[in-house]
Amino acid sequence: MKKIRIALTKGRLEEHALDIFKSIGVNVKELENKGRKLVFHCENEDYDMDFFLVKAPDVTTYVEYGAADIGIVGKDTLMEKNREFYEVLDLKVGKCKFSLAALPEFKMNEGYNRKKIATKYPEVAREYFRKKGVDVELIKIEGSVELAPIVGLADAIVDIVETGSTLKENGLIIVEDICNISARMIINKASMKTKREEITNVIEKVSKVINK
Ligand code: PRP
Repeated sequence: MKKIRIALTKGRLEEHALDIFKSIGVNVKELENKGRKLVFHCENEDYDMDFFLVKAPDVTTYVEYGAADIGIVGKDTLMEKNREFYEVLDLKVGKCKFSLAALPEFKMNEGYNRKKIATKYPEVAREYFRKKGVDVELIKIEGSVELAPIVGLADAIVDIVETGSTLKENGLIIVEDICNISARMIINKASMKTKREEITNVIEKVSKVINK
Protein backbone atom coordinates (compact mmCIF):
# COMPACT_ATOMS: atom_id res chain seq x y z
CA MET A 1 0.00 0.00 0.00
CA LYS A 2 1.42 3.37 -1.03
CA LYS A 3 1.23 6.28 1.40
CA ILE A 4 -1.06 9.16 0.40
CA ARG A 5 -0.46 12.73 1.52
CA ILE A 6 -3.51 14.89 2.09
CA ALA A 7 -3.59 18.69 2.46
CA LEU A 8 -6.57 19.96 4.43
CA THR A 9 -7.78 23.56 4.66
CA LYS A 10 -7.36 25.01 8.15
CA GLY A 11 -10.39 26.58 9.78
CA ARG A 12 -14.02 26.34 8.72
CA LEU A 13 -13.60 23.28 6.47
CA GLU A 14 -11.35 21.42 8.90
CA GLU A 15 -14.07 19.73 10.93
CA HIS A 16 -16.07 18.81 7.82
CA ALA A 17 -13.00 17.22 6.25
CA LEU A 18 -12.17 15.26 9.40
CA ASP A 19 -15.76 14.00 9.63
CA ILE A 20 -15.56 12.75 6.05
CA PHE A 21 -12.26 10.91 6.60
CA LYS A 22 -13.54 9.54 9.91
CA SER A 23 -16.63 8.19 8.18
CA ILE A 24 -14.55 6.22 5.66
CA GLY A 25 -12.62 4.61 8.53
CA VAL A 26 -9.50 6.77 8.86
CA ASN A 27 -8.34 7.17 12.44
CA VAL A 28 -8.13 10.98 12.73
CA LYS A 29 -7.71 11.15 16.53
CA GLU A 30 -4.29 12.78 16.34
CA LEU A 31 -5.68 15.45 14.03
CA GLU A 32 -8.42 16.28 16.49
CA ASN A 33 -5.91 17.11 19.25
CA LYS A 34 -3.21 18.63 17.16
CA GLY A 35 -1.33 21.28 19.17
CA ARG A 36 1.44 22.84 17.06
CA LYS A 37 2.30 19.72 15.11
CA LEU A 38 2.15 20.04 11.33
CA VAL A 39 2.07 16.52 9.91
CA PHE A 40 -0.18 13.74 11.20
CA HIS A 41 0.36 10.14 10.30
CA CYS A 42 -2.79 8.02 10.19
CA GLU A 43 -2.33 4.34 9.50
CA ASN A 44 -4.47 1.23 9.82
CA GLU A 45 -5.07 -1.89 7.74
CA ASP A 46 -6.96 0.10 5.09
CA TYR A 47 -5.02 3.34 4.88
CA ASP A 48 -1.55 4.81 5.12
CA MET A 49 -1.96 8.59 5.14
CA ASP A 50 -0.12 11.73 6.12
CA PHE A 51 -2.33 14.76 6.73
CA PHE A 52 -1.30 18.38 6.97
CA LEU A 53 -3.29 21.53 7.59
CA VAL A 54 -2.57 24.67 5.59
CA LYS A 55 -4.33 27.84 4.44
CA ALA A 56 -6.76 27.38 1.55
CA PRO A 57 -4.63 28.82 -1.30
CA ASP A 58 -1.68 26.75 -0.08
CA VAL A 59 -3.73 23.55 -0.44
CA THR A 60 -3.78 24.14 -4.21
CA THR A 61 -0.03 24.85 -4.23
CA TYR A 62 0.84 21.64 -2.34
CA VAL A 63 -1.39 19.59 -4.62
CA GLU A 64 -0.19 21.22 -7.83
CA TYR A 65 3.45 20.55 -6.98
CA GLY A 66 2.69 17.00 -5.82
CA ALA A 67 3.74 17.54 -2.21
CA ALA A 68 0.18 16.49 -1.47
CA ASP A 69 -1.66 13.87 -3.54
CA ILE A 70 -5.11 14.98 -2.39
CA GLY A 71 -6.41 18.36 -1.24
CA ILE A 72 -9.62 19.47 0.41
CA VAL A 73 -10.39 23.09 -0.39
CA GLY A 74 -13.30 25.45 -1.04
CA LYS A 75 -14.56 26.14 -4.54
CA ASP A 76 -14.03 29.85 -3.75
CA THR A 77 -10.26 29.26 -3.65
CA LEU A 78 -10.35 27.19 -6.84
CA MET A 79 -12.32 29.88 -8.67
CA GLU A 80 -9.87 32.56 -7.61
CA LYS A 81 -6.75 30.64 -8.45
CA ASN A 82 -7.41 27.73 -10.77
CA ARG A 83 -4.35 25.61 -11.24
CA GLU A 84 -3.26 22.30 -12.67
CA PHE A 85 -4.97 19.43 -10.85
CA TYR A 86 -8.11 17.33 -11.09
CA GLU A 87 -11.21 18.50 -9.21
CA VAL A 88 -12.89 15.15 -8.55
CA LEU A 89 -15.60 15.58 -5.94
CA ASP A 90 -18.05 18.12 -4.62
CA LEU A 91 -18.04 17.22 -0.93
CA LYS A 92 -21.33 19.07 -0.34
CA VAL A 93 -20.11 20.57 2.92
CA GLY A 94 -18.92 24.09 3.72
CA LYS A 95 -21.79 25.40 1.66
CA CYS A 96 -21.94 29.16 1.11
CA LYS A 97 -22.14 31.58 -1.81
CA PHE A 98 -20.40 34.48 -3.47
CA SER A 99 -22.54 37.61 -3.42
CA LEU A 100 -22.36 41.25 -4.39
CA ALA A 101 -23.36 43.20 -1.27
CA ALA A 102 -23.62 46.85 -0.32
CA LEU A 103 -25.42 49.38 1.85
CA PRO A 104 -29.17 49.50 1.01
CA GLU A 105 -28.85 52.81 -0.87
CA PHE A 106 -26.33 51.39 -3.37
CA LYS A 107 -27.36 51.38 -7.04
CA MET A 108 -25.06 49.76 -9.58
CA ASN A 109 -26.10 51.93 -12.51
CA GLU A 110 -26.28 55.28 -10.80
CA GLY A 111 -23.75 58.05 -11.48
CA TYR A 112 -20.93 58.32 -14.01
CA ASN A 113 -18.00 57.16 -11.90
CA ARG A 114 -16.76 53.60 -11.95
CA LYS A 115 -17.93 51.80 -8.84
CA LYS A 116 -15.29 50.71 -6.35
CA ILE A 117 -15.62 47.06 -5.36
CA ALA A 118 -13.68 45.68 -2.38
CA THR A 119 -12.99 41.96 -2.31
CA LYS A 120 -10.68 39.18 -1.16
CA TYR A 121 -11.40 37.53 -4.52
CA PRO A 122 -10.42 39.94 -7.34
CA GLU A 123 -10.46 37.25 -10.07
CA VAL A 124 -13.96 36.11 -9.13
CA ALA A 125 -15.14 39.73 -9.02
CA ARG A 126 -13.40 40.59 -12.32
CA GLU A 127 -15.05 37.67 -14.09
CA TYR A 128 -18.47 38.53 -12.62
CA PHE A 129 -18.35 42.15 -13.77
CA ARG A 130 -16.78 41.20 -17.12
CA LYS A 131 -19.77 38.93 -17.83
CA LYS A 132 -22.12 41.74 -16.87
CA GLY A 133 -20.20 44.17 -19.06
CA VAL A 134 -19.74 46.58 -16.15
CA ASP A 135 -16.48 48.47 -15.71
CA VAL A 136 -15.51 48.67 -12.02
CA GLU A 137 -12.43 49.42 -9.94
CA LEU A 138 -11.41 46.42 -7.83
CA ILE A 139 -9.78 46.95 -4.44
CA LYS A 140 -8.09 43.89 -2.92
CA ILE A 141 -8.78 43.44 0.80
CA GLU A 142 -7.41 40.65 2.99
CA GLY A 143 -10.29 40.26 5.46
CA SER A 144 -13.35 41.81 7.13
CA VAL A 145 -14.41 42.98 3.67
CA GLU A 146 -17.78 44.16 5.02
CA LEU A 147 -16.01 47.13 6.58
CA ALA A 148 -15.10 48.67 3.21
CA PRO A 149 -18.50 50.15 2.21
CA ILE A 150 -19.24 51.22 5.78
CA VAL A 151 -16.19 53.48 6.03
CA GLY A 152 -16.33 54.60 2.41
CA LEU A 153 -13.41 52.63 0.96
CA ALA A 154 -15.69 50.99 -1.60
CA ASP A 155 -19.24 51.22 -2.97
CA ALA A 156 -19.88 47.50 -2.70
CA ILE A 157 -18.19 44.18 -1.96
CA VAL A 158 -17.89 40.77 -3.55
CA ASP A 159 -17.58 38.32 -0.69
CA ILE A 160 -18.59 35.00 0.78
CA VAL A 161 -21.93 34.79 2.53
CA GLU A 162 -22.62 31.80 4.72
CA THR A 163 -25.27 32.57 7.34
CA GLY A 164 -25.64 36.22 6.27
CA SER A 165 -25.14 37.41 9.83
CA THR A 166 -21.96 39.44 9.11
CA LEU A 167 -23.85 41.41 6.44
CA LYS A 168 -26.89 41.85 8.68
CA GLU A 169 -24.95 42.98 11.73
CA ASN A 170 -23.23 45.60 9.63
CA GLY A 171 -26.31 46.93 7.82
CA LEU A 172 -25.39 45.53 4.41
CA ILE A 173 -27.69 43.74 1.99
CA ILE A 174 -27.17 41.31 -0.89
CA VAL A 175 -27.45 43.07 -4.25
CA GLU A 176 -27.06 39.88 -6.26
CA ASP A 177 -25.91 36.32 -5.67
CA ILE A 178 -23.03 35.26 -7.88
CA CYS A 179 -22.70 31.50 -7.38
CA ASN A 180 -22.82 28.72 -4.82
CA ILE A 181 -19.68 27.36 -3.20
CA SER A 182 -18.80 24.15 -1.36
CA ALA A 183 -15.73 22.11 -0.43
CA ARG A 184 -14.04 20.10 -3.19
CA MET A 185 -11.56 17.25 -3.39
CA ILE A 186 -8.64 17.90 -5.73
CA ILE A 187 -5.98 15.43 -6.89
CA ASN A 188 -2.45 15.88 -8.18
CA LYS A 189 -2.33 14.80 -11.83
CA ALA A 190 0.74 12.57 -11.54
CA SER A 191 -0.49 10.96 -8.29
CA MET A 192 -3.64 9.92 -10.11
CA LYS A 193 -1.39 7.65 -12.20
CA THR A 194 1.32 6.63 -9.73
CA LYS A 195 -1.03 5.99 -6.78
CA ARG A 196 -4.10 5.12 -8.79
CA GLU A 197 -5.30 2.27 -6.58
CA GLU A 198 -5.00 4.13 -3.27
CA ILE A 199 -6.48 7.37 -4.60
CA THR A 200 -9.37 5.71 -6.42
CA ASN A 201 -10.17 3.84 -3.22
CA VAL A 202 -10.42 7.13 -1.28
CA ILE A 203 -12.48 8.84 -4.01
CA GLU A 204 -14.93 5.93 -4.19
CA LYS A 205 -15.35 5.64 -0.43
CA VAL A 206 -15.76 9.39 0.09
CA SER A 207 -18.15 9.56 -2.83
CA LYS A 208 -20.36 6.89 -1.19
CA VAL A 209 -20.35 8.73 2.15
CA ILE A 210 -21.27 12.12 0.70
CA ASN A 211 -24.03 10.70 -1.48
CA LYS A 212 -25.62 8.67 1.32
C1 PRP B 1 -16.08 35.16 5.73
C2 PRP B 1 -16.60 36.16 4.72
C3 PRP B 1 -17.56 36.96 5.54
C4 PRP B 1 -18.12 35.95 6.52
C5 PRP B 1 -19.48 35.48 6.07
O1 PRP B 1 -15.06 35.75 6.43
O2 PRP B 1 -15.55 36.92 4.16
O3 PRP B 1 -16.90 37.99 6.21
O4 PRP B 1 -17.21 34.83 6.53
O5 PRP B 1 -20.06 34.58 6.97
P1 PRP B 1 -21.56 34.77 7.50
O6 PRP B 1 -22.43 35.00 6.30
O7 PRP B 1 -21.87 33.46 8.16
O8 PRP B 1 -21.60 35.91 8.46
P2 PRP B 1 -14.15 34.96 7.44
O9 PRP B 1 -14.77 34.91 8.80
O10 PRP B 1 -13.79 33.64 6.85
O11 PRP B 1 -12.83 35.83 7.53
P3 PRP B 1 -12.50 37.36 7.28
O12 PRP B 1 -13.57 38.20 7.93
O13 PRP B 1 -11.18 37.58 7.90
O14 PRP B 1 -12.50 37.54 5.80
